[in-house]
Amino acid sequence: MSIIDAQESTLYHRLAESLAEAIHNGTFLPGSRLPAIRRCASSHQLSINTVLTAYRILEDRGLIEARPQSGYYVRGQLPSVKISGDRQAKVRSPGSEKLELIEAVFAAQNHADYTNISLACPQNSDFFPTAKISRIMASLLRREPELIGRYALPPGSQRLRREIARRSMDLGMALTAEDITLTHGCMEALQLALRAVTKPGDCVGVETPTYFYLFPLLASLGLKVLEIPTDPQHGLSLDALELLLREKRLQALIAMPNVQNPLGCSMKLEDKKRLAKLVNQHKVPLIEDGLYGELQFCWPLSPAVKAFDSEGWVLHCASFTKTVAPDFHIGWIAAGRFSEELARLKSVSSLAESRLLSETLGHFLASGGYDHHLRTLRRRYAAQLDEARGLIARHFPQGTQATQPSGGFVFWVELPTAVDTVELFQRLLQEKICLTPGALYTLSERGNSALRLSCCYPFDERYTWALKRTGALACELSGLDAGIM
Ligand SMILES: Cc1ncc(COP(=O)(O)O)c(C=O)c1O
Repeated sequence: MSIIDAQESTLYHRLAESLAEAIHNGTFLPGSRLPAIRRCASSHQLSINTVLTAYRILEDRGLIEARPQSGYYVRGQLPSVKISGDRQAKVRSPGSEKLELIEAVFAAQNHADYTNISLACPQNSDFFPTAKISRIMASLLRREPELIGRYALPPGSQRLRREIARRSMDLGMALTAEDITLTHGCMEALQLALRAVTKPGDCVGVETPTYFYLFPLLASLGLKVLEIPTDPQHGLSLDALELLLREKRLQALIAMPNVQNPLGCSMKLEDKKRLAKLVNQHKVPLIEDGLYGELQFCWPLSPAVKAFDSEGWVLHCASFTKTVAPDFHIGWIAAGRFSEELARLKSVSSLAESRLLSETLGHFLASGGYDHHLRTLRRRYAAQLDEARGLIARHFPQGTQATQPSGGFVFWVELPTAVDTVELFQRLLQEKICLTPGALYTLSERGNSALRLSCCYPFDERYTWALKRTGALACELSGLDAGIM
């Protein structure tokens, strides 16, 4: 690509992103006409070709449509998911059927010949910075062959921890390498955090719906779960949380304030500040799962709650699994006032992290390659999410609602209540399509007709066929026609 082509491509992508944002925030309502191409070109001082390309990008994403002789119009959008009526917080333990369903879904997800539309794990090498990483790794091994001859004991590679600390400033956190312990993925960080701050029988608050692997994790540590109402757009209900904290019903809390899985939402800045204040005031540890924080679509990134942690009650966990590659299962935790206990638990849990992977990552982060890679991923995921939502609007039963993610690649879809999504999951398995039913993500009834979908696959014929087929079967099960009412 020449410099002029590259500038041109930045311009039309920038225009497409700002128009997409205006459509999502309601500045352009469904059915309204976008500015005529000539007018848009002159008001933005762009060429007609640049505007046309931006409009075509939005058309491919399913956000707008061309009408002959008339111009470009905003398409009907999927209705947003509303908060459910179940506001009563109940202490529960996941039953064995829930744990069995999680195992069944996990087994199906790992079949190579199944088409996945839900697994939150990038599925193709063009999502990974393979070439850059293999160069760094080969050169490291050549220059320092002794690297693989020793354990990297906790807290782990100094170089990688320094790079993580430097990057944490983008999320408003002021960490040093000494504040950070490397872990085996975010999962081990969550597990160590729970072990550091709770004892069996304690009650842990979680968002509802939440990351489904938290249920078996909490069960394995003998912990009880209390689901806290969570708004599909603005995240955890702080009024509900405050009540629970005042009544001393929680010993710890796990939340995803940035890019929640499965909703895709992020909390507002003032809510993050209030959350930090609440947990510090009540001295209840918040385990902040920041796995998707760097995949937010906004820039500058919205801060983590840890950025406002005055007394060290926030334990921030993250990993590179979703942003670099699933096999780079390196995570980290900044455990605040629990740091010493954390480092001790890490030793007895898994002793060390791979020195080769950690050092490779450290060099990759320092080279600026990671930032470039993240920018590409954000743009691609934002576009794919729009396309998937467009397909759902056309092929899923009338009345289907979906969340509008603030980053990452997963979103939550609520179908009409006539659709039992566990049945949908089982029927689709016979056609080798794998999805994750909403029942995995909550212990309440709310998930029974919901799904989590994921857009971290190439948006190819196979994926679009699987999404359309899911919609067709949901229409059959509900007796409803497809499309927006
Ligand atoms: C919200 C959330 N937290 C934690 C994890 C586990 O992360 P890792 O694969 O780095 O262990 C996942 C994996 O999907 C996740 O979605």
